[in-house]
Amino acid sequence: MQKWIHYPLRAGESSAQAHADLPAAGPYEREVGREGFFGPASHVHHRHPPTAWSGWEGPLRPRAYDLCRVADDGQGPWDAVELIGNAHCRLRMWTCSTAMTQLFRNGDGDDLLFVHEGEGELFCDYGHLGYRAGDYLLIPRSTMWRLEPAAPSRLLLIEAVNGAYRLPERGLLGAHALFDPAVLAVPEIDDRFRAQQTEEVWQVVIRRRGALSTVTYPFNPLDAVGWHGDLSVCRLAWRDIRPLNSHRYHLPPSAHTTFVADRFVVCTFVPRPLETDPGALHLPFFHNNDDFDELIFYHAGSFVSRDNIHPGMLTLHPCGFTHGPHPAAWRAAGSRSATDEVAVMIDARDALEPAAMLAAAEWSGYVDSWREVRA
Ligand SMILES: [Fe+2]
Repeated sequence: MQKWIHYPLRAGESSAQAHADLPAAGPYEREVGREGFFGPASHVHHRHPPTAWSGWEGPLRPRAYDLCRVADDGQGPWDAVELIGNAHCRLRMWTCSTAMTQLFRNGDGDDLLFVHEGEGELFCDYGHLGYRAGDYLLIPRSTMWRLEPAAPSRLLLIEAVNGAYRLPERGLLGAHALFDPAVLAVPEIDDRFRAQQTEEVWQVVIRRRGALSTVTYPFNPLDAVGWHGDLSVCRLAWRDIRPLNSHRYHLPPSAHTTFVADRFVVCTFVPRPLETDPGALHLPFFHNNDDFDELIFYHAGSFVSRDNIHPGMLTLHPCGFTHGPHPAAWRAAGSRSATDEVAVMIDARDALEPAAMLAAAEWSGYVDSWREVRA
């Protein structure tokens, strides 16, 4: 694949290289970009932070929710309340405290489970697979599964409605960058799986077009003796992700893409060193990601670009306004050499609609959290 060279237009004072060597008179660089960091873009150098608004009217404001305050202890994943979503992507939280007594089969799309807390065992059509905090479990549409937690398991459920999860193109990086496909774990037909194949009555709760049906078997239908093929549940731990990094250039969030669905992507921010080049930005640049709504779920560590955000929180940055680092994070960036953050980001093509029940968990001051007190 070859590309024509585009000669960017320039006006006034600007740097030649995005995210580096910013002009002293305009230290706040804003990327105005299309197609989620892949389309046409310009970098505008401002005298003031583009997030230094002094007022905000109307609904298009950044949102922050503390999901630790959301009830999420239904009988099964089919009970989990939808927190936010659109026609292609739905986000739920669910805590599984005791072994599921029914199987689940989601006929509406693939489920991606991110284990925020806990550990345990997954049993499914393909066998048995252990999990612990920090794992993704990718469950293809219509797979039968259940969990047996060893510790209460708090799960972020990300559903690709009517779609499927795939891996992103790795292009110049080759097939083994970010993570080697060999680190993906799949279920095994082992003794523990065989031991649960009893002749007792089991029910399967099936979701299709949002409606639930229950099918009863006089035995446990997770009764496979073996399988072969290239479709299965798989597990990926964030600890197995080896993030891209450049000491001279702050890479865009898209460099951290983990899974790609039809109209959204899932990215994972994991611990990594920060840039060391004196002219390079250390933090995410101010930007308008004008074709995507952005959700970030904070799993662990201290998020490098945010003030007052703790694990278990969720932020929503709808497209259509500029966002960027918080003031204290901006000031501290130069003194930090690494970040220990672990977070899951969902960038969606279509507008994400928060559920009304989330209002009770909202930090209403988030829109003002970029405000600096002026002397
Ligand atoms: Fe963003």
